[in-house]
Amino acid sequence: MSEDTYANAGRPASKAKLTELPAWHALTQHVQRMRRVHLRQLFAADTTRGERFSLQACGLYLDYAKNLITTETIDLLVSLANACGLPRQIEAMFTGQKINVSEDRAALHIALRAPRTQTILLDGHDVVAEVHAVLDRMTAFTSAVHRGEWRGYSGKRLRNVVNIGIGGSDLGPVMAYHALRQYASKEMVFRFISNVDGSDFLEATQDLDPAETLFIVCSKTFRTKETLTNAATAREWIVRSLGDERAVARHFVAVSTNVEAAAKFGIDARQLFGLWDWDGGRYSMDSAIGLSTMLAVGPENFRSMLGGFHAMDQHFRTVPLSRNLPVLMGLLSVWYNNFFDAQTAAVLPYAHDMQRFPAYLQQLTMESNGKHVTLDGAPIDYQTGPIYWGEPGTNGQHSFHQLLHQGTRMVPCDFIGFCRATHPIGNHQELLLANLFAQTEALAFGKTNDEVWAEGVPDWLVPHRVFEGNRPTNTLLADTLDPATLGALVALYEHSVFTQSTIWHIDAFDQWGVELGKSLAERTLAALAGSAAPGLDSSSRALIRYCRERREGHAG
Ligand code: F6P
Repeated sequence: MSEDTYANAGRPASKAKLTELPAWHALTQHVQRMRRVHLRQLFAADTTRGERFSLQACGLYLDYAKNLITTETIDLLVSLANACGLPRQIEAMFTGQKINVSEDRAALHIALRAPRTQTILLDGHDVVAEVHAVLDRMTAFTSAVHRGEWRGYSGKRLRNVVNIGIGGSDLGPVMAYHALRQYASKEMVFRFISNVDGSDFLEATQDLDPAETLFIVCSKTFRTKETLTNAATAREWIVRSLGDERAVARHFVAVSTNVEAAAKFGIDARQLFGLWDWDGGRYSMDSAIGLSTMLAVGPENFRSMLGGFHAMDQHFRTVPLSRNLPVLMGLLSVWYNNFFDAQTAAVLPYAHDMQRFPAYLQQLTMESNGKHVTLDGAPIDYQTGPIYWGEPGTNGQHSFHQLLHQGTRMVPCDFIGFCRATHPIGNHQELLLANLFAQTEALAFGKTNDEVWAEGVPDWLVPHRVFEGNRPTNTLLADTLDPATLGALVALYEHSVFTQSTIWHIDAFDQWGVELGKSLAERTLAALAGSAAPGLDSSSRALIRYCRERREGHAG
């Protein structure tokens, strides 16, 4: 690999390893001091800390005061980001350089939300013009369905939309549908099928009239077994109920880069919405993969969501690192992951409609940053992506928050809240917000031995009732959960993930780790059907034998 490749870009001439950079050493020293500091002291020493460690951009307010940091920490983290060439890597992404090194591709998801007037050239083509051509076709199709011009084969209006896809072809659409359901048409039903377990298909379709149902088959590659299996079942369901192969043309559209495979399935080019190889599945909810979102909330709201994404893109590209929301969140994640040895990070949206957001973020963060070699293929001797998990509040408070407050592990948390509800129901929003703020307060400051004792708690019970506190949190607030806010929030996490990957010097845009399981599944499928499977280990062989015996016994 030449000195000029992206893999080497941003590194100092000596190509020092991350852990050998002076900025890394400085943080290693600094954390020794910070491990002895309590958030109570940091807040007592500076009554304006809450204001000083907060930022506003793109309709979001980030409070990062309840982190184990000082201004020196931020300075050192920003120095590390500079030493790792973050500003140059951001520019490389925005200008379409092949930053997805292992697949030799650009990662141009920012083009999906670029305004029509912008030009981004990739191999001589203006990708923004191509993106808008697809957006216009999505808009025309959505309007035709909404106005009843595009009808089912028997002439009935299409009232049900079923998205079939998995991973990035499912998690974005289902998350966005739930998040924006207050904006969704109440006359239509939206369902999402991802699991190859047939009960997912059954559950999603059993109360639907096939004559009123539109399937969107979302698969970038059109090669994903789960999606193709579910799509074939859906095809059978339509043809059997409507009694004619020709019904497929009215009841199916697809989103894919693979025109040939979609055509083989029976979807011709007019019903195919295109994607590009420079856009990874987990970065695609704002492409045609979001067709179900557009059908639910309408083209205008969809474009408003793209506006939110774009505003955050601009912020990420232009604002200095120390005031840059995604950069700060990414650097804080590195701080806890690599200097406090935190193993996991929790995402806790205090909004029921954000219930699928943690699952969405799991793919975004862990498929991107769960990597074990650097961009140039060298083994890594530091931790990369943490494990992300979470649930909406306040439900989580009555289950796993016990561990967050009094467990032995550090779990940095992102709390996400909205000042105004999207519904008019009673004082629920006040309760929700009060709980959110109270949780971050309790996690940060806890309750001391003396405070517990002063409440008259018997001595023997005091240790059980003590909260150490000093548990770091970010709080993200927005006015309300609307399309633009959702776009800004997703772009914030996308760029935070990129910031982290740049520090760790890894490829955030490939996902080779999912391949082995897929190819082994082919072999075990044959073994389950009774074929010999040479090379199969004794444990897998015994499991398959046990299954076959149970199934045969049942059949008998
Ligand atoms: O197997 C992982 C993965 O490749 C994801 O990266 C992707 O989002 C998902 O499968 C679905 O892929 P496709 O859209 O090609 O069906």
